Amino acid sequence: MATLANRPTDRSSASAAPEEGGRRLDLFPVPVFIWKWNEAEQRKSQLLETIRHRRASEPGIVRTNRDGWHSDTDLPAWEEPGFLELVRWATACVRQSSLIWSGDAVANSELLGSWRLNGWANVNPPGGHNISHTHAQRNWNWSACYYVDLPDIAREEVGGALVLEERGTGLRPKGGQPSRTFRHIPAEGEIIIFPATLFHSVEPHNGPGDRVSIALNFHHPALELARLWEHRPRIWWRKFPKLMRRVAQLRGSQDWSAGAAPHGYDVVPLEASAEA
Ligand SMILES: [Fe+2]
Repeated sequence: MATLANRPTDRSSASAAPEEGGRRLDLFPVPVFIWKWNEAEQRKSQLLETIRHRRASEPGIVRTNRDGWHSDTDLPAWEEPGFLELVRWATACVRQSSLIWSGDAVANSELLGSWRLNGWANVNPPGGHNISHTHAQRNWNWSACYYVDLPDIAREEVGGALVLEERGTGLRPKGGQPSRTFRHIPAEGEIIIFPATLFHSVEPHNGPGDRVSIALNFHHPALELARLWEHRPRIWWRKFPKLMRRVAQLRGSQDWSAGAAPHGYDVVPLEASAEA
């Protein structure tokens, strides 16, 4: 996979000993999966029509997006043609990725049933980009990006690379850049799946027209908590989770107790549904 377009930008040398007599160990690779949707071409115009219509009628929200439109985060519940199919296929990909990643640690039977999702559409005009961030704030396990429409020019020139960053170790020069990054140049119809805790950004889109993608987050109770330390529940939630959960139910607000499923939509993956 390490082509000219998709290359690690490792500014250090893995073989260099830090000092004479020392050793360096690079441990624990990050699991990232890429799958291709075989319905991508036939569904593309359906998806684009809906996204353009919603963009024209909905103000959208600002999160990490800069100079681009970000829909509300209820995409898994969109009823327009093509979205349910895409979301259920994506969920099947995440389920399969989880099984491959875990080896024997998570049994197939443990990952049956529905997954909790949220998601949104992104439309980036020229110059649109996303600043560095993670999706771990609400106990999401996996995050993903599906590419609906990319401008049809040379892929390196069009910009918009997804940059995955080596962070989260607690080791980084203060205010500095991550020591290692991986630039992925996306292709239409593919979904890239990575841990929700992984820092990532999107480089500015340089091509003509809009660049359209769909972001999704996934949670399954069989997977471990995904919270980063700074997003751990506040003290009241840690000390009195039952009381706080009851209060949240009465107020209709988010359950922030450790291990709670994030607010979202329950989706049954395509293959599990077909077997039922
Ligand atoms: Fe993101």
